[in-house]
Amino acid sequence: MTQDLEISPFTGDHLDAAARLLAQRQAGLRVLRPELPAAFTEAAGCRPLLAALLNREGSHGVVATRAGGMAAYLIGFPRQELIWGRACWSPIEGQAYDASLGPDIMRDIYASWSRHFVDRGFFRHYVHAPADDPRLLDTWFTTGFGKMQAHAMRDLDLEPPADTSFSVRRVTPDDLDFIEPLLPLISTGLAKSAAYVITLPERYADFRRDYAEELANPLSHYWVAVEDGRAIGLAGFDPPDLSVMVPDGAFYLSDAKTDREARGRGVARALLAAAFAEARAAGAHDCITDWRTASLPAHRAWTGLGFKPTDFRLHRHIDERIAWAGGPPG
Ligand SMILES: CC(C)(COP(=O)(O)OP(=O)(O)OC[C@H]1O[C@@H](n2cnc3c(N)ncnc32)[C@H](O)[C@@H]1OP(=O)(O)O)[C@@H](O)C(=O)NCCC(=O)NCCS
Repeated sequence: MTQDLEISPFTGDHLDAAARLLAQRQAGLRVLRPELPAAFTEAAGCRPLLAALLNREGSHGVVATRAGGMAAYLIGFPRQELIWGRACWSPIEGQAYDASLGPDIMRDIYASWSRHFVDRGFFRHYVHAPADDPRLLDTWFTTGFGKMQAHAMRDLDLEPPADTSFSVRRVTPDDLDFIEPLLPLISTGLAKSAAYVITLPERYADFRRDYAEELANPLSHYWVAVEDGRAIGLAGFDPPDLSVMVPDGAFYLSDAKTDREARGRGVARALLAAAFAEARAAGAHDCITDWRTASLPAHRAWTGLGFKPTDFRLHRHIDERIAWAGGPPG
């Protein structure tokens, strides 16, 4: 273990010190990204997020202290879901460390935190780390994690493509039949190499119902690209969840797909440019989105369109056989 470090469970008594560490981290990140919300550069803004995290069912946290001061913390909670499996999750506010001590402490903390979950049969671990902290990312990579999901943002000043053979317009609830051929494209796209993300076959039957609800939701905004009377691209926007990484008043690109034959011709750019112009006029400044980093089309399109990652979800899947193969027989 790193010298002079004391590792102990995170309790309510640690909330103030942890909130200070998180606020320091956010203040440092905000120097690089002034778009990030100011509220979380103050401990008072961070504390409710940490209290809520600690209060989640099954939540477990670990703190490292040195000479009586908090050096780092990690908090997460268990979830059991069809797709994600029996897993423990730590969101972007779930960890912070004292920058003067460096991120290596997170390895000691994870050793304790993960033991808690592995002993309870949680072998899939998800944590989030800021994109602007390469030393912290490297610490997680050294501990067996890999990048899974990028969370990113950009401003709303995007040029539409010139001279297109298609037009873009807002989707209405009456467009459900018109857009239906596009609905499974994310699932079928992500299933391919090199992303290998699964959608269970039964889910495809739900898409029409889900989109009927989405299109009827006054908070959702969908745009469609039309060529020769056919829908060739779709983009959907929703209000984002509150997060330390989401700029105030940002809107969330939650859905985007282009017909396979129409890709690489500026359809996504045109849809985003139209939606961005409308959002700008309504007073918004930023758009956030997220994608699987292993998906070549998604990663190249969103980075090509100027989205800059703010944080990554990292993933480690521990071999379940450690439950019985942790030592010599007997
Ligand atoms: C991701 C997706 C929506 C992009 O749509 P698209 O209409 O092909 O995108 P565009 O033609 O507008 O290209 C946008 C940018 O992506 C980049 N890009 C697109 N295809 C690319 C490729 N094959 N290689 C490299 N860059 C590429 C370009 O930089 C382009 O920027 P530019 O406008 O400055 O030239 C489309 O690939 C798709 O539907 N994929 C399957 C579903 C999916 O994964 N959706 C995203 C879920 S997060």
